[in-house]
Amino acid sequence: MSVEYKIYKVISNFEISKGIYKLIVDGKFDAKPGQFYMLRAWDREPILSRPISVNDLDNKSISFVYQVVGKGTEILKNLKKDDDIQLLGPSGNYFDVNKLSGKVAIVAGGIGIAPMQYLTKAINDIKAVNGITAVDIYAGFRDETYIIDEFKEYINNIYISTENGKYGYKGFVTEIFKPESYDIVLCCGPEIMMNKVVKMCVDVNVPILVSMEKHMACGIGACLVCTCKTVNGNKRTCKDGPIFSGQDLVLIDN
Ligand SMILES: Cc1cc2nc3c(=O)[nH]c(=O)nc-3n(C[C@H](O)[C@H](O)[C@H](O)COP(=O)(O)OP(=O)(O)OC[C@H]3O[C@@H](n4cnc5c(N)ncnc54)[C@H](O)[C@@H]3O)c2cc1C
Ligand code: FES
Repeated sequence: MSVEYKIYKVISNFEISKGIYKLIVDGKFDAKPGQFYMLRAWDREPILSRPISVNDLDNKSISFVYQVVGKGTEILKNLKKDDDIQLLGPSGNYFDVNKLSGKVAIVAGGIGIAPMQYLTKAINDIKAVNGITAVDIYAGFRDETYIIDEFKEYINNIYISTENGKYGYKGFVTEIFKPESYDIVLCCGPEIMMNKVVKMCVDVNVPILVSMEKHMACGIGACLVCTCKTVNGNKRTCKDGPIFSGQDLVLIDN
């Protein structure tokens, strides 16, 4: 990966659900599912760029789906067609779809659904030759759902939960997920939810890969801001991750 930011043009940037935006950037990108880019659409402030996962890509554009939570994403939300955006990446390791087989469960919480679109597409491309028998998604949201319709064609079953019961099961996604029915679990979401899913999988001896979302500064493995604890010592989420084996993580009890 080059450590230079490159400038690209915005194709579109629009709200897809309350506070959730989809940014499409012009260009040919070569990223793998689970990888991320450092995004920057400002000169000095905020000082740091912001890591956002690849939502999807084709041979002429890449998309990012992001939740507006602070200064950086507030700036991103105001980007318009033909504005410049600086991207560094693709960064980090990735979900290696070629290593999957059997029944696959994807568990996502909130904006953790964003990288799962490209992931399900990539699994779909290889599943006939890799012995993948089914791909199910468990997606938990607070109140509104988003982007799940876009990848329905790539999966077998989708199980939704919302905290207010507006869609699907009323409660948390961890209350409807049964890890023992699967050969492997892939997970992305808030740390508290991922910790719970990891514990559930460890208890029934089902392998799980999680995409960690730590605060980042440099995004290239130099500053150690993004470390997480594993049984093999501290690891940098941006360089050694963001995908880690749940069985290797040392979880902080919430
Ligand atoms: C590898 C990776 C991939 C990511 N992919 C996506 C994605 O696809 N879509 C998306 O919406 N977000 C994603 N994030 C999170 C995203 O980077 C942060 O939400 C963003 O940097 C916040 O920037 P901000 O300036 O808007 O908010 P800030 O002003 O920096 O922060 C606003 C609030 O969000 C909290 N926050 C900031 N960063 C994180 C974080 N990494 N984890 C938990 N809380 C945080 C802060 O503590 C604060 O409370 C990803 C993070 C990582 C590490
Ligand atoms: S953000 Fe600097 S080492 Fe990961």
